[in-house]
Amino acid sequence: MKNSLSVLALMLCLVFSSGNAQKFEDLALTPPMGWNSWNKFGCNVDEQMIRNIADAMDSSGMKDAGYEYIVIDDCWHGGRDSLGFIYPDSARFPSGMKALADYVHSKGLKFGIYSCAGDKTCGGRPGSRGHEYQDALTYAKWGVDYLKYDWCNTAGLNSVGAYTTMRNALYAAGRPVVFSICEWGDTKPWEWAGDVGHLWRITGDITHCFDCELNHGTWSQWGVMRIAEMRKDIRKYAGPGHWNDPDMLEVGNGMTQSEDRAHFSIWCMMAAPLIAGNDLRSMSNETKEILTNRDVIDIDQDSLGVEGYLYATMDSVEVWVKPLVKGDWAICFLNRASSAQRFEFDWSKNIIADDLSKRVLNTNGTAYTLRDLWGKKILGDTKGKLTSELATHDVLVLRLTNR
Ligand code: GLA
Repeated sequence: MKNSLSVLALMLCLVFSSGNAQKFEDLALTPPMGWNSWNKFGCNVDEQMIRNIADAMDSSGMKDAGYEYIVIDDCWHGGRDSLGFIYPDSARFPSGMKALADYVHSKGLKFGIYSCAGDKTCGGRPGSRGHEYQDALTYAKWGVDYLKYDWCNTAGLNSVGAYTTMRNALYAAGRPVVFSICEWGDTKPWEWAGDVGHLWRITGDITHCFDCELNHGTWSQWGVMRIAEMRKDIRKYAGPGHWNDPDMLEVGNGMTQSEDRAHFSIWCMMAAPLIAGNDLRSMSNETKEILTNRDVIDIDQDSLGVEGYLYATMDSVEVWVKPLVKGDWAICFLNRASSAQRFEFDWSKNIIADDLSKRVLNTNGTAYTLRDLWGKKILGDTKGKLTSELATHDVLVLRLTNR
């Protein structure tokens, strides 16, 4: 009892001392990389599976490629005790969250968890509304490094207030946590969340198809290309420490290999958080090669932190561009058509000027070397025209260098 009273007293102190609260800086200077349970497993989460995923993250080369966070999404919750403290489902997590976080940390990885700003999570488990400071303290005690915070069952709540409250609670609890805002872009978080979170979802939920909408009546899930084209003109809000989040990856979850490659490439061009959503324990070599292609990951993780954009569309071939450090550029040609497409790109006629970064790609006078990041070979330089053919839903991703 004495113990509980002192915890409550500490919580009150935290609430009233949160005037200077802020988000933890310097935590996501490049887009966060990790794995999350939702896309593949939904509510079917348990501690043994999470341990095995952490093992696979380590042994598969994903960790070496930069993936860091293991995040348990919805449905880990058991309930709240008589003082309101959250505890995990004891059948699914019999060793408790601290032991699981310790295990993940022992693998050199970081541990993430999910909650919701509403009374209940989207999966009907207890939400954090009214328990923000208490939950933040519990997460700190468990060793949580990443919190995804959802937006279901939030009637009457203001998004800026609700997410700021949880940001303040995390800061007061004192353990650095990456704060992932998940309100689906409903209240334009890119306009207000730069100081609140490290990443914010910009759309509704993704699904593993290239170009579809799964209509559930009151809400829809979106194929990867639908998500890539959904928000225009918000790239200026992204940068080191604060990223637009087009949702977690569906690589390895059922699309073709070309589609998975295209999805991954466009996410990297968008400087998106790279949160794998497949079963790492049983992924194919093809899936692993996509998720661990370091040259493509380098595009995403480029320290300039400028989100790329759709520069041009030539029939069904889209041209995405992204300025990189040291004067380099990434260029991604993407075939949206359901048949193979030949295309030609004349570098000398395409002077690419990016208003946001003030960078200009002008190959007249400077020849850039073209490196094909999936083919892993040099494709000549920008002196001539590029002529190529793309299979359906496939990409050619080039890194241009003039050093
Ligand atoms: C929402 C989120 C998803 C996932 C589920 C869990 O739909 O957008 O990413 O977290 O809730 O219930």
